[in-house]
Amino acid sequence: MKNIVILISGTGSNMAAILHAAERERWQTRLGARVAAVISNRPDAKGLLTAAEAGVATAVVDHKAYSGRAEFDAALREAIDVHEPTLVVLAGFMRILTPEFVAHYAGRIVNIHPSLLPAFPGLHTHQRAIDAGCKLAGVTVHLVTAELDHGPILAQAAVPVLPGDTADTLAARVLSQEHLIYPRAVAEWLQTA
Ligand code: GRF
Repeated sequence: MKNIVILISGTGSNMAAILHAAERERWQTRLGARVAAVISNRPDAKGLLTAAEAGVATAVVDHKAYSGRAEFDAALREAIDVHEPTLVVLAGFMRILTPEFVAHYAGRIVNIHPSLLPAFPGLHTHQRAIDAGCKLAGVTVHLVTAELDHGPILAQAAVPVLPGDTADTLAARVLSQEHLIYPRAVAEWLQTA
């Protein structure tokens, strides 16, 4: 069985989209894959409840409980590796990871970033796209490398930036695309794993 471990920090709507796709598209029989666990760095992440309701194992590795990034990453790695993951999926996981952590999962850790990379790595992507006068915005699924929001691109989707858009209205338009392309990109990755 190919185990997927999903890391979240908040709502977990991308995680939920992956759980739904796995169920609907019968990943267990078709791909020999399942979501083995959902892990959050925040104990109050809403997505933990969604995952538990779906019958998925959950865990919290609270970054505030660790003295530094290296200690946190080591604890996180331990919590992930218990599930012997084929793929680690970052879904709104808001912590920067150490190069050692990324190296440990090299080639089998993916992220979703709400911009058309390489444009706008980092935070506040929607406002930055509006401020730059972009006519298109979007989302990127990519393999994670040591450099933040870089790494080989697996999938992208574009949406229009409309007159009068705010960061919130644009974010909502982009998020609906995230929910389509992330499960698809994960399934494609698993097919060749
Ligand atoms: C998404 O926009 C994702 O691209 C970004 O953070 C947001 C997470 O949303 N990295 P959710 O927790 O999946 O609902």
